[in-house]
Amino acid sequence: MPDKAPVALITGASRGIGAATAHKFANAGYDLLLLARSTSDLEALAKALAHSGRRIEFIGLDLAEPDTIAPGLADLCSRGLTPAVVINNAGVAYTGSLAETPLEQWQQLMQLNLSAVFQVCQSLLPLLRQAGGGQIINVSSHAAHNAFPEWGAYCVSKAALVSLSRCLAVEERPFGIRVSTLTLGAVNTPLWESENVHGTFDRRAMIEVERVADALLYMAQGPATSVVEDLTLMPAAGAL
Ligand SMILES: NC(=O)c1ccc[n+]([C@@H]2O[C@H](COP(=O)([O-])OP(=O)(O)OC[C@H]3O[C@@H](n4cnc5c(N)ncnc54)[C@H](OP(=O)(O)O)[C@@H]3O)[C@@H](O)[C@H]2O)c1
Repeated sequence: MPDKAPVALITGASRGIGAATAHKFANAGYDLLLLARSTSDLEALAKALAHSGRRIEFIGLDLAEPDTIAPGLADLCSRGLTPAVVINNAGVAYTGSLAETPLEQWQQLMQLNLSAVFQVCQSLLPLLRQAGGGQIINVSSHAAHNAFPEWGAYCVSKAALVSLSRCLAVEERPFGIRVSTLTLGAVNTPLWESENVHGTFDRRAMIEVERVADALLYMAQGPATSVVEDLTLMPAAGAL
């Protein structure tokens, strides 16, 4: 009988936490559904994971474009793999005071970090319900529970993501769907080089992406009879 591997769908898989998680899950025996904007990076990742022998499907999708999300996911999930684990990892950070954050930037941040997660969940819930259950893990931040100056919009987006996760968890429990958040302190990823993030940071003290991927795999592999509602992973040096 052919082995039926579990399937994980990972958003924001082209680099950083998402790419490290794709490596970790493929090596742990998961088939993968990957999405991000950069198809060339996803293609390179799929090639790099070929040694695992797992099926890797990917799609270039811009989560800032609300109208493309449901059709893009329908395309990705029509290729014979049904996700048992959905990791909503794609996200962006913008720094700047609330007094000076342009509305357009605020809206982009909320679309990426919050509304796109809502849309991804809404698009995939019918598949998970039909399969009798599954798991959704939303990648959140220590910023959700704090008020960091110059990070206001990001803090708000992640605080709302925590609330979305908790509300979804109670609504979907009867369908066997477990919803969790992974709360992270600073992780050493390309996010800190993005043009919208300003400041100087000691990246050597940050969490390594492999540790985050380990945490996600631990959450995904738990038995269906229990749920890690939230797992917090911080640098040993504390909040940076
Ligand atoms: N790094 C940290 O210190 C830290 C701490 C706490 C929480 N987090 C959270 O962890 C998650 C991953 O962050 P990271 O540090 O790995 O960031 P990253 O290295 O900047 O990677 C972000 C990922 O999201 C994708 N993405 C960005 N905009 C997108 C869009 N419009 N449509 C589709 N995909 C998009 C990117 O791919 P493309 O550019 O190819 O689209 C990339 O794969 C985020 O939710 C972040 O808020 C990070």
